[in-house]
Amino acid sequence: MTAPLLALDVVTIFPEYLAPLSQSLVGKAIERGIIAARVHDLRAWTDDIHRTVDDSPYGGGPGMVMRAEPWARALDGLAPPEGPQPCLVIPSPAGRPLTQALAAELAARPWLLFACGRYEGIDARVIDYAAARMEVVEISLGDYVLCGGEVAVLVIVEALARLLPGVLGNSESAANDSFADGADGLLEAPAYTRPATWRGLDVPAVLLSGDHGAIERWRKEQSTARTRAIRPDLLDS
Ligand code: ADE
Repeated sequence: MTAPLLALDVVTIFPEYLAPLSQSLVGKAIERGIIAARVHDLRAWTDDIHRTVDDSPYGGGPGMVMRAEPWARALDGLAPPEGPQPCLVIPSPAGRPLTQALAAELAARPWLLFACGRYEGIDARVIDYAAARMEVVEISLGDYVLCGGEVAVLVIVEALARLLPGVLGNSESAANDSFADGADGLLEAPAYTRPATWRGLDVPAVLLSGDHGAIERWRKEQSTARTRAIRPDLLDS
C-alpha cells in the first residue's frame, strides 16, 4: 500500500466520540489507506492516580481549564521536537471560521494533529509551546458554543477528506459544491431524482428538456436567487 495522503491524530478525553470516523466516506478513505487516523486518550499522558486533566482557572470564574502538562506530553509523544511536525488544529469558538477555503488549505497538509478541548478550554500556554515548532490553527465551526472539540473535529475531517483525490467516487463532484470555486462560491441549485411527478409535485421542466445550456442557466439562476435570499453576504464577497 502507498503512503497515506493525510495522517490524522486526534487527542481527546472521549476517544469513543470519534467512532464515526470509521463510517461512510471517511471510513472508506481510511480503509483504502488514503487517510491514516489515530485517536488517543489525553489521560494516557497524565501521571496522577486520578488521571487529572483539568484545574480551576487563574483569576477566578466558572468552569475548569485543561492543564498544560498532559497536552505538552501528548504533543511531545506524538511529534517529538526533533522530528517532522504536524499542523496542530484546535477547535475553539475563538478560532478562524471554518470555510471551504480553509478546508482546502488543511487538506493539503500531510499531517494534522487535532487537540480536543473541553470545559473552558486548554491552558493558553499550550498554543505558545506548540507554535514554537509547529503550525497552529484554531478553528471555529460558527458563532455558538459546543461542549468540546470532538464534534468539530468530525466536521472538519469530513469537510477536508472529501477534497482528497480518490475519496469521492466522481472526481467532479467536489468542484461544484456550494462554496467551491466551481460554483462561484454560491449556494447550490436544488436537486431532483425520479419520479418526475411525485405526490403531485413536478420536477422543473427544464431539467427534463435535455437542453444542457438551458439547464446550466437555470441552475445559475437558482443558485443566485437562493444565495440572495439566504446568504446575501456571499454575494458581496
Ligand atoms: N468548541 C466549542 N465551541 C466550538 C465551536 N463553535 N467551534 C469549534 N470548536 C468549539
